[in-house]
Amino acid sequence: MRIVLIGFGTVAQGLAELLLSHLENGALDISDWRVVGISDTLKGSAYHEGGLPLRRVLDMVGCGQSLSSVADWGTPWNALTMIEHADADVVVEATYTDIETARPALDHVRAAIERGMHVATTNKGPLALAAKELTKLAAEHHVSLRYEGTVMAGTPLLNLIRGPLAGSRITEMRGILNGTTNYVLSRMEEGLDYSGALAEAQELGYAEAVPNADVLGHDALAKVAILAATVFGASIPLAEIPCRGITGITREKVARAAASGRRHKLLGRVWRENDRVRASVGPELIGREHPLAAVHGAGNAMTVVTEALGEVTIVGPGAGRRETGFALLNDLIHIQNHR
Ligand SMILES: NC(=O)c1ccc[n+]([C@@H]2O[C@H](COP(=O)([O-])OP(=O)(O)OC[C@H]3O[C@@H](n4cnc5c(N)ncnc54)[C@H](OP(=O)(O)O)[C@@H]3O)[C@@H](O)[C@H]2O)c1
Repeated sequence: MRIVLIGFGTVAQGLAELLLSHLENGALDISDWRVVGISDTLKGSAYHEGGLPLRRVLDMVGCGQSLSSVADWGTPWNALTMIEHADADVVVEATYTDIETARPALDHVRAAIERGMHVATTNKGPLALAAKELTKLAAEHHVSLRYEGTVMAGTPLLNLIRGPLAGSRITEMRGILNGTTNYVLSRMEEGLDYSGALAEAQELGYAEAVPNADVLGHDALAKVAILAATVFGASIPLAEIPCRGITGITREKVARAAASGRRHKLLGRVWRENDRVRASVGPELIGREHPLAAVHGAGNAMTVVTEALGEVTIVGPGAGRRETGFALLNDLIHIQNHR
């Protein structure tokens, strides 16, 4: 299986490290997999039909050397040129998420599918805005479009729904889809005020310097739209999903909730109401006895309400280099098994 990586930041490097460790220790037989191309705006681009040496690639990027500087690794191709010219079976799209335009990732995903390549992506933009269109396009071109890492990173929520829970009608999903805000709320319950907890999350690398995507709920909103499309078959424009973040939660509100045995959690929700699918993002109070209330720190969790089993809750990491790289590895395994 010949793989091209578009975007070689945290997540794609996490995937490369996992591939390397499997190639070296053989725990998973991927001996016939090759990363033949990488294209990244600053880290450079490289292409070699026989496969790129991942250890050398990671070392070069680790010490700030451009991949384009190696003469044997082809001409420097930008992302779309790489997708157009590479002799490859799969494109891994891991550039930045833009939930307003989904670009440039949307162009990368479309181009790869139209060239008959399978796609694995962790990028929320294309799926939040165009899941239905891309799924149809992939079906028309007989290729797989996998995006496990877009929701809850490597925690296998989409796989759980497509696999073990297939056959049980899902009536509602509600969960903690953003680790940064859950960290902030957890620390506020321990006595910090909002700005102190946010500053701590920034120091630990959970929150960006400009934390709006997290604290205003936009990151969770994109994930809710992906779930609405994937699980409930409903394309809901992001602007039509009510969305509130955690900026209005004060230490006093958190303390009052705690005194009554409840906790504030930023919940993403999708549910069926009569013939309609509804969705929302916002802080909600939940009783301490519910499994979602027990999720502290930067963890993620989702309660899936099913007709056959009642509530099933899955808890796990929602971000991280290795954790999200693992989601891509899992997507690649699926693609390999279904080619
Ligand atoms: N990190 C996580 O824990 C996590 C979890 C779930 C989902 N995700 C999603 O996974 C994706 C990757 O995340 P990340 O943390 O790896 O981000 P990142 O570290 O910022 O990496 C993104 C990479 O894409 C490159 N890039 C940007 N535009 C490009 C283009 N047009 N062509 C080629 N390369 C381009 C960037 O290049 P330069 O910076 O070198 O210019 C950067 O190296 C994002 O969409 C993110 O939302 C991340």
